[in-house]
Amino acid sequence: MGAKIKGLGHTIPKKKISNQFFIDQGLDTSDEWIKERTGIETRYFTPDETGSSDLGYEAALDCLKNTNTDISEIDLILVATSTPDHNAFPSTACLIQEKLGCNNIPAFDISAACSGFCYALTTAEGFLATQKHKNILVIGVDCLSKISNMEDRGTCILFGDGAAAALVTKTADKNEGVIFSTIKANGSLANILQIPKGGSKYPFNETIAKEKSHFIEMDGSAVFKQAIKIVVSEIKQSLVSINLSTDNIDYLICHQANQRILDRICDNLKLPKQKCITNIKTFGNTSAASIPLAMSEFHKNHGFKKGDIIVLAGFGAGFTWGITIIKWT
Ligand SMILES: CC(C)(COP(=O)(O)OP(=O)(O)OC[C@H]1O[C@@H](n2cnc3c(N)ncnc32)[C@H](O)[C@@H]1OP(=O)(O)O)[C@@H](O)C(=O)NCCC(=O)NCCS
Repeated sequence: MGAKIKGLGHTIPKKKISNQFFIDQGLDTSDEWIKERTGIETRYFTPDETGSSDLGYEAALDCLKNTNTDISEIDLILVATSTPDHNAFPSTACLIQEKLGCNNIPAFDISAACSGFCYALTTAEGFLATQKHKNILVIGVDCLSKISNMEDRGTCILFGDGAAAALVTKTADKNEGVIFSTIKANGSLANILQIPKGGSKYPFNETIAKEKSHFIEMDGSAVFKQAIKIVVSEIKQSLVSINLSTDNIDYLICHQANQRILDRICDNLKLPKQKCITNIKTFGNTSAASIPLAMSEFHKNHGFKKGDIIVLAGFGAGFTWGITIIKWT
Protein backbone atom coordinates (compact mmCIF):
# COMPACT_ATOMS: atom_id res chain seq x y z
CA MET A 1 0.00 0.00 0.00
CA GLY A 2 1.43 3.38 -1.02
CA ALA A 3 0.71 7.06 -0.39
CA LYS A 4 -0.41 9.86 -2.67
CA ILE A 5 -1.14 13.55 -2.27
CA LYS A 6 -4.82 14.05 -3.01
CA GLY A 7 -4.70 17.84 -2.77
CA LEU A 8 -3.18 20.83 -1.09
CA GLY A 9 -3.98 24.14 0.59
CA HIS A 10 -2.05 27.06 1.98
CA THR A 11 -2.21 30.37 3.76
CA ILE A 12 0.10 33.30 4.38
CA PRO A 13 -0.20 36.09 6.94
CA LYS A 14 -1.52 39.47 5.78
CA LYS A 15 1.44 41.64 6.78
CA LYS A 16 3.80 42.04 3.82
CA ILE A 17 7.36 42.95 4.74
CA SER A 18 9.54 44.57 2.08
CA ASN A 19 13.35 44.71 2.22
CA GLN A 20 12.97 48.40 3.08
CA PHE A 21 11.40 47.34 6.41
CA PHE A 22 14.81 46.19 7.70
CA ILE A 23 16.53 49.41 6.59
CA ASP A 24 13.79 51.41 8.35
CA GLN A 25 14.52 49.34 11.51
CA GLY A 26 18.12 50.61 11.37
CA LEU A 27 19.72 47.45 9.94
CA ASP A 28 22.91 47.99 7.89
CA THR A 29 21.65 46.39 4.68
CA SER A 30 20.13 47.34 1.33
CA ASP A 31 17.39 46.20 -1.02
CA GLU A 32 20.04 45.53 -3.69
CA TRP A 33 22.16 43.31 -1.38
CA ILE A 34 19.19 41.23 -0.24
CA LYS A 35 17.82 40.80 -3.78
CA GLU A 36 21.19 39.98 -5.31
CA ARG A 37 22.46 37.63 -2.55
CA THR A 38 19.15 35.86 -1.76
CA GLY A 39 16.52 36.60 -4.44
CA ILE A 40 14.09 37.74 -1.72
CA GLU A 41 11.97 40.87 -2.25
CA THR A 42 9.17 40.37 0.27
CA ARG A 43 8.08 38.01 3.03
CA TYR A 44 5.04 37.92 5.34
CA PHE A 45 5.02 38.16 9.15
CA THR A 46 2.32 37.05 11.58
CA PRO A 47 1.22 39.60 14.18
CA ASP A 48 1.71 39.04 17.94
CA GLU A 49 -0.76 36.57 19.42
CA THR A 50 -1.01 34.69 16.13
CA GLY A 51 0.95 31.48 16.13
CA SER A 52 1.71 28.42 14.03
CA SER A 53 -1.53 26.72 15.10
CA ASP A 54 -3.56 29.62 13.64
CA LEU A 55 -1.76 29.52 10.30
CA GLY A 56 -1.74 25.71 10.23
CA TYR A 57 -5.47 25.64 10.89
CA GLU A 58 -6.16 28.03 7.98
CA ALA A 59 -4.00 25.92 5.64
CA ALA A 60 -5.79 22.74 6.79
CA LEU A 61 -9.19 24.31 6.07
CA ASP A 62 -8.04 25.35 2.58
CA CYS A 63 -6.78 21.81 1.92
CA LEU A 64 -10.04 20.22 3.12
CA LYS A 65 -12.03 22.60 0.90
CA ASN A 66 -9.83 21.98 -2.16
CA THR A 67 -10.11 18.20 -1.74
CA ASN A 68 -13.80 18.26 -0.90
CA THR A 69 -13.02 16.35 2.29
CA ASP A 70 -14.99 16.42 5.51
CA ILE A 71 -12.93 16.67 8.68
CA SER A 72 -14.59 13.47 9.95
CA GLU A 73 -12.67 11.56 7.24
CA ILE A 74 -9.26 12.57 8.67
CA ASP A 75 -7.68 9.97 10.94
CA LEU A 76 -4.25 11.49 11.73
CA ILE A 77 -2.75 14.99 11.89
CA LEU A 78 1.01 15.48 11.45
CA VAL A 79 2.45 18.95 11.88
CA ALA A 80 6.00 19.77 10.81
CA THR A 81 7.12 22.88 12.67
CA SER A 82 10.05 24.42 14.53
CA THR A 83 7.92 27.23 15.90
CA PRO A 84 5.24 25.56 18.01
CA ASP A 85 2.78 27.90 19.75
CA HIS A 86 4.16 26.69 23.09
CA ASN A 87 7.62 25.52 24.06
CA ALA A 88 7.30 21.74 24.26
CA PHE A 89 3.60 21.21 24.91
CA PRO A 90 0.81 21.09 24.03
CA SER A 91 1.87 20.25 20.49
CA THR A 92 0.77 22.50 17.65
CA ALA A 93 -0.89 19.43 16.10
CA CYS A 94 -3.18 19.10 19.14
CA LEU A 95 -4.08 22.80 18.96
CA ILE A 96 -4.93 22.48 15.27
CA GLN A 97 -6.92 19.32 15.98
CA GLU A 98 -9.01 21.21 18.55
CA LYS A 99 -9.62 24.11 16.12
CA LEU A 100 -10.69 21.65 13.42
CA GLY A 101 -13.01 19.90 15.87
CA CYS A 102 -11.76 16.36 15.36
CA ASN A 103 -10.73 15.35 18.86
CA ASN A 104 -9.80 11.70 19.51
CA ILE A 105 -7.69 11.15 16.42
CA PRO A 106 -3.89 11.07 16.91
CA ALA A 107 -2.03 14.34 16.33
CA PHE A 108 1.63 15.12 16.83
CA ASP A 109 4.43 17.47 15.80
CA ILE A 110 7.55 16.59 13.85
CA SER A 111 10.71 18.61 14.46
CA ALA A 112 13.06 18.50 11.49
CA ALA A 113 13.34 22.24 10.73
CA CYS A 114 13.18 23.05 7.01
CA SER A 115 13.14 19.35 6.04
CA GLY A 116 10.01 18.92 8.17
CA PHE A 117 7.55 18.45 5.31
CA CYS A 118 9.61 15.63 3.74
CA TYR A 119 9.95 14.02 7.19
CA ALA A 120 6.19 14.30 7.77
CA LEU A 121 5.32 12.90 4.32
CA THR A 122 7.57 9.91 4.93
CA THR A 123 5.97 9.40 8.36
CA ALA A 124 2.51 9.53 6.74
CA GLU A 125 3.64 6.94 4.20
CA GLY A 126 4.58 4.62 7.07
CA PHE A 127 1.23 5.08 8.83
CA LEU A 128 -0.68 4.40 5.60
CA ALA A 129 1.32 1.21 5.06
CA THR A 130 0.07 -0.15 8.41
CA GLN A 131 -3.47 -0.05 6.97
CA LYS A 132 -4.81 1.56 10.14
CA HIS A 133 -5.03 5.05 8.63
CA LYS A 134 -6.64 6.26 5.42
CA ASN A 135 -6.56 10.06 5.28
CA ILE A 136 -3.71 12.00 6.86
CA LEU A 137 -3.44 15.76 7.07
CA VAL A 138 0.23 16.70 6.74
CA ILE A 139 0.81 20.34 7.66
CA GLY A 140 4.03 22.32 7.29
CA VAL A 141 3.96 25.57 9.22
CA ASP A 142 6.48 28.01 10.64
CA CYS A 143 6.60 31.54 11.99
CA LEU A 144 10.35 32.07 11.88
CA SER A 145 9.85 35.82 12.27
CA LYS A 146 9.11 35.01 15.93
CA ILE A 147 12.52 33.42 16.50
CA SER A 148 14.67 35.72 14.34
CA ASN A 149 17.07 38.28 15.78
CA MET A 150 15.98 41.45 13.99
CA GLU A 151 19.43 42.95 14.70
CA ASP A 152 21.27 40.16 12.84
CA ARG A 153 21.40 41.11 9.17
CA GLY A 154 22.80 37.70 8.22
CA THR A 155 19.61 35.88 9.22
CA CYS A 156 16.51 38.07 9.78
CA ILE A 157 16.22 39.17 6.14
CA LEU A 158 15.81 35.56 5.01
CA PHE A 159 12.78 34.35 6.90
CA GLY A 160 9.01 34.64 6.52
CA ASP A 161 5.92 32.99 7.98
CA GLY A 162 3.46 30.66 6.23
CA ALA A 163 1.63 27.36 6.28
CA ALA A 164 0.55 24.70 3.81
CA ALA A 165 -1.23 21.38 4.13
CA ALA A 166 -1.49 18.23 2.06
CA LEU A 167 -4.11 15.50 2.24
CA VAL A 168 -2.17 12.25 1.99
CA THR A 169 -4.19 9.15 1.20
CA LYS A 170 -3.68 5.48 0.39
CA THR A 171 -3.09 4.11 -3.07
CA ALA A 172 -2.90 0.47 -4.09
CA ASP A 173 -0.89 1.39 -7.21
CA LYS A 174 2.86 1.39 -6.42
CA ASN A 175 3.50 3.31 -9.64
CA GLU A 176 1.69 6.45 -8.54
CA GLY A 177 1.89 8.92 -5.69
CA VAL A 178 5.06 8.76 -3.58
CA ILE A 179 7.32 6.52 -5.65
CA PHE A 180 10.46 7.17 -3.57
CA SER A 181 11.32 8.77 -0.27
CA THR A 182 14.35 9.07 1.95
CA ILE A 183 15.05 11.10 5.09
CA LYS A 184 18.48 11.54 6.63
CA ALA A 185 20.33 13.56 9.27
CA ASN A 186 23.88 14.43 10.32
CA GLY A 187 23.99 15.75 13.87
CA SER A 188 27.68 16.62 13.59
CA LEU A 189 26.55 19.68 11.62
CA ALA A 190 24.11 20.78 14.36
CA ASN A 191 26.08 23.94 15.14
CA ILE A 192 25.91 25.53 11.67
CA LEU A 193 22.25 26.43 12.16
CA GLN A 194 20.82 26.54 15.66
CA ILE A 195 19.01 28.34 18.44
CA PRO A 196 21.81 28.06 21.01
CA LYS A 197 19.93 28.73 24.24
CA GLY A 198 16.51 28.98 25.84
CA GLY A 199 15.81 25.23 25.86
CA SER A 200 16.23 22.61 28.60
CA LYS A 201 20.06 22.75 28.57
CA TYR A 202 20.23 26.52 28.97
CA PRO A 203 16.82 27.60 30.27
CA PHE A 204 15.72 31.07 29.30
CA ASN A 205 16.93 33.82 31.65
CA GLU A 206 17.89 37.50 31.61
CA THR A 207 21.43 36.85 30.34
CA ILE A 208 20.10 34.83 27.42
CA ALA A 209 17.60 37.59 26.68
CA LYS A 210 20.43 40.16 26.62
CA GLU A 211 22.68 37.93 24.48
CA LYS A 212 19.72 37.20 22.18
CA SER A 213 20.96 33.60 22.08
CA HIS A 214 17.35 32.32 22.06
CA PHE A 215 17.16 33.42 18.41
CA ILE A 216 18.41 31.74 15.21
CA GLU A 217 22.20 31.72 14.72
CA MET A 218 23.67 30.52 11.45
CA ASP A 219 26.94 30.04 9.64
CA GLY A 220 25.35 31.07 6.34
CA SER A 221 28.25 30.10 4.14
CA ALA A 222 28.51 26.58 5.68
CA VAL A 223 24.76 26.04 5.28
CA PHE A 224 24.98 27.27 1.69
CA LYS A 225 27.74 24.79 0.76
CA GLN A 226 26.28 21.79 2.64
CA ALA A 227 22.81 22.33 1.16
CA ILE A 228 24.07 22.25 -2.42
CA LYS A 229 26.44 19.29 -1.89
CA ILE A 230 23.90 17.14 -0.04
CA VAL A 231 20.82 17.90 -2.15
CA VAL A 232 22.54 17.36 -5.51
CA SER A 233 24.12 14.08 -4.46
CA GLU A 234 20.94 12.81 -2.77
CA ILE A 235 18.69 13.64 -5.76
CA LYS A 236 21.08 11.87 -8.15
CA GLN A 237 21.20 8.74 -5.93
CA SER A 238 17.42 8.77 -5.43
CA LEU A 239 16.70 8.94 -9.16
CA VAL A 240 19.16 6.13 -9.94
CA SER A 241 17.55 3.90 -7.30
CA ILE A 242 14.22 4.02 -9.16
CA ASN A 243 15.74 3.89 -12.65
CA LEU A 244 15.03 7.53 -13.48
CA SER A 245 17.37 10.35 -14.48
CA THR A 246 17.22 14.15 -14.22
CA ASP A 247 15.68 14.16 -17.72
CA ASN A 248 12.59 12.53 -16.19
CA ILE A 249 12.03 15.38 -13.72
CA ASP A 250 9.05 17.59 -14.63
CA TYR A 251 9.32 19.77 -11.51
CA LEU A 252 11.90 20.21 -8.77
CA ILE A 253 10.62 21.81 -5.56
CA CYS A 254 13.49 22.50 -3.19
CA HIS A 255 13.26 24.12 0.21
CA GLN A 256 13.17 27.85 -0.58
CA ALA A 257 16.29 29.01 1.27
CA ASN A 258 18.14 31.20 -1.19
CA GLN A 259 17.63 31.68 -4.95
CA ARG A 260 21.38 31.22 -5.47
CA ILE A 261 21.22 27.79 -3.75
CA LEU A 262 18.34 26.78 -6.03
CA ASP A 263 20.20 28.01 -9.14
CA ARG A 264 23.35 26.09 -8.19
CA ILE A 265 21.37 22.90 -7.53
CA CYS A 266 19.81 23.19 -11.01
CA ASP A 267 23.20 23.90 -12.62
CA ASN A 268 24.83 20.93 -10.89
CA LEU A 269 21.96 18.63 -11.88
CA LYS A 270 21.95 20.12 -15.40
CA LEU A 271 18.23 20.76 -14.90
CA PRO A 272 16.58 23.62 -16.86
CA LYS A 273 15.74 26.41 -14.40
CA GLN A 274 12.11 26.57 -15.57
CA LYS A 275 11.61 23.11 -14.05
CA CYS A 276 12.52 24.44 -10.61
CA ILE A 277 9.44 25.91 -8.90
CA THR A 278 10.37 28.93 -6.81
CA ASN A 279 8.46 31.52 -4.79
CA ILE A 280 11.27 32.73 -2.56
CA LYS A 281 11.09 36.20 -4.15
CA THR A 282 7.64 36.68 -2.59
CA PHE A 283 7.64 34.59 0.59
CA GLY A 284 11.30 34.26 1.67
CA ASN A 285 12.28 31.14 3.61
CA THR A 286 9.18 29.78 5.38
CA SER A 287 10.99 26.69 6.74
CA ALA A 288 8.68 23.65 7.08
CA ALA A 289 6.02 25.45 5.02
CA SER A 290 8.24 26.28 2.08
CA ILE A 291 7.95 23.06 0.02
CA PRO A 292 4.18 22.51 0.45
CA LEU A 293 3.56 26.25 -0.02
CA ALA A 294 5.41 26.23 -3.35
CA MET A 295 3.57 23.03 -4.35
CA SER A 296 0.17 24.30 -3.33
CA GLU A 297 0.60 27.69 -4.98
CA PHE A 298 1.83 26.13 -8.24
CA HIS A 299 -0.96 23.53 -8.26
CA LYS A 300 -3.58 26.23 -7.66
CA ASN A 301 -2.27 28.54 -10.40
CA HIS A 302 -1.10 26.05 -13.02
CA GLY A 303 -2.07 22.52 -11.94
CA PHE A 304 0.18 19.46 -11.92
CA LYS A 305 -0.73 16.95 -14.63
CA LYS A 306 -1.29 13.22 -14.18
CA GLY A 307 2.06 11.48 -14.57
CA ASP A 308 4.21 14.53 -13.70
CA ILE A 309 7.39 13.52 -11.87
CA ILE A 310 7.87 15.96 -9.00
CA VAL A 311 11.02 15.89 -6.87
CA LEU A 312 10.78 17.48 -3.41
CA ALA A 313 14.08 18.27 -1.68
CA GLY A 314 14.16 19.52 1.90
CA PHE A 315 17.24 20.51 3.90
CA GLY A 316 17.73 22.38 7.13
CA ALA A 317 18.89 22.56 10.72
CA GLY A 318 20.01 19.38 12.39
CA PHE A 319 21.46 19.00 9.74
CA THR A 320 18.49 17.18 8.21
CA TRP A 321 17.43 16.49 4.66
CA GLY A 322 14.85 14.51 2.75
CA ILE A 323 13.95 13.66 -0.84
CA THR A 324 10.44 12.66 -1.90
CA ILE A 325 9.68 11.74 -5.51
CA ILE A 326 6.05 11.89 -6.54
CA LYS A 327 4.28 10.69 -9.68
CA TRP A 328 1.25 12.96 -9.71
CA THR A 329 -2.16 11.32 -10.05
C1 LIG B 1 23.10 34.22 4.58
C2 LIG B 1 23.58 34.43 3.16
C3 LIG B 1 22.53 35.11 2.32
C4 LIG B 1 24.82 35.32 3.18
O1 LIG B 1 25.30 35.49 1.88
P1 LIG B 1 26.84 35.29 1.55
O2 LIG B 1 27.02 35.63 0.13
O3 LIG B 1 27.22 33.90 2.00
O4 LIG B 1 27.49 36.38 2.43
P2 LIG B 1 28.59 36.21 3.59
O5 LIG B 1 27.95 35.53 4.77
O6 LIG B 1 29.81 35.59 3.00
O7 LIG B 1 28.84 37.70 3.93
C5 LIG B 1 29.41 38.58 2.98
C6 LIG B 1 29.35 39.97 3.57
O8 LIG B 1 27.99 40.43 3.53
C7 LIG B 1 27.61 40.88 4.82
N1 LIG B 1 26.17 40.69 5.00
C8 LIG B 1 25.54 39.63 5.54
N2 LIG B 1 24.22 39.87 5.55
C9 LIG B 1 24.04 41.09 5.00
C10 LIG B 1 22.92 41.88 4.72
N3 LIG B 1 21.66 41.47 5.02
N4 LIG B 1 23.08 43.08 4.13
C11 LIG B 1 24.31 43.52 3.82
N5 LIG B 1 25.44 42.83 4.05
C12 LIG B 1 25.29 41.62 4.63
C13 LIG B 1 28.45 40.06 5.77
O9 LIG B 1 28.55 40.70 7.02
C14 LIG B 1 29.76 40.01 5.06
O10 LIG B 1 30.44 41.22 5.27
P3 LIG B 1 32.04 41.23 5.49
O11 LIG B 1 32.60 40.69 4.22
O12 LIG B 1 32.31 42.66 5.73
O13 LIG B 1 32.26 40.35 6.67
C15 LIG B 1 23.96 33.08 2.51
O14 LIG B 1 25.13 32.56 3.12
C16 LIG B 1 22.88 32.06 2.63
O15 LIG B 1 21.80 32.20 2.09
N6 LIG B 1 23.19 30.91 3.28
C17 LIG B 1 22.26 29.86 3.43
C18 LIG B 1 21.22 30.27 4.41
C19 LIG B 1 20.11 29.31 4.49
O16 LIG B 1 19.77 28.71 3.51
N7 LIG B 1 19.57 29.13 5.67
C20 LIG B 1 18.46 28.35 5.95
C21 LIG B 1 18.70 26.93 5.61
S1 LIG B 1 17.35 26.03 6.06
